[in-house]
Amino acid sequence: MLNIALPKGRLGEKVYAMLKNAGYFCEELVKDSRKLIFTDEKNGVNYFWVKPSDVSIYVEYGAADIGVAGKDILLESNADVYELLDLKIGKCRMAVAAKTDYREDMSRPLKVATKFVNIAKNFYAEKNREIDIIKLSGSIELAPILGLSDVIVDIVETGTTLKENNLHVIEEILPISARLIANKAHYKFNKAEIDAMLEKLQKEIVND
Ligand code: PRP
Repeated sequence: MLNIALPKGRLGEKVYAMLKNAGYFCEELVKDSRKLIFTDEKNGVNYFWVKPSDVSIYVEYGAADIGVAGKDILLESNADVYELLDLKIGKCRMAVAAKTDYREDMSRPLKVATKFVNIAKNFYAEKNREIDIIKLSGSIELAPILGLSDVIVDIVETGTTLKENNLHVIEEILPISARLIANKAHYKFNKAEIDAMLEKLQKEIVND
């Protein structure tokens, strides 16, 4: 059996739609239940619903053979996994945002609030800009509004959250999309099955 870690939530639904179109049909997977493990005997696949930010951990440690994770999670975790395919879903961008009237004070370190500590550190290290990181777990947009930080480094999808909170993008960091990843050792053992799935998924990719 091939063990697949899928990201719970919005991205997971998109991934399941792709899998279904590719012939990996497991209707039970999208039923409204609290179950986390599903078996598709016909295709020889086990699915696990995993917190999106944990997918790379399950795959890196081999608890799952393959999985789907956002590029943001992969960069942030620096997971030692194979990135097999850009699924071109869950598209968004990593960006720096601030209040619309914000002006940077270069005489002191920049206060950056984010969930993505490593991405933020690398981005500013390359620019030789000294920063103080404030690590948050969600609702990052509140930080500059309440004066907790100067800027935020976060995911922007539609831009609605920024707009509704009077924030705007001041710098783009990188585009993000979902990737099919594999455990390095397990890929070698399950190459035929994984490559077969890869080939079918490739046909479901919608290019811009
Ligand atoms: C993400 C991100 C932004 C929002 C951006 O939050 O952190 O808050 O989506 O989307 P938009 O540009 O379409 O408005 P998420 O929903 O993952 O929740 P979070 O507060 O836990 O980060």
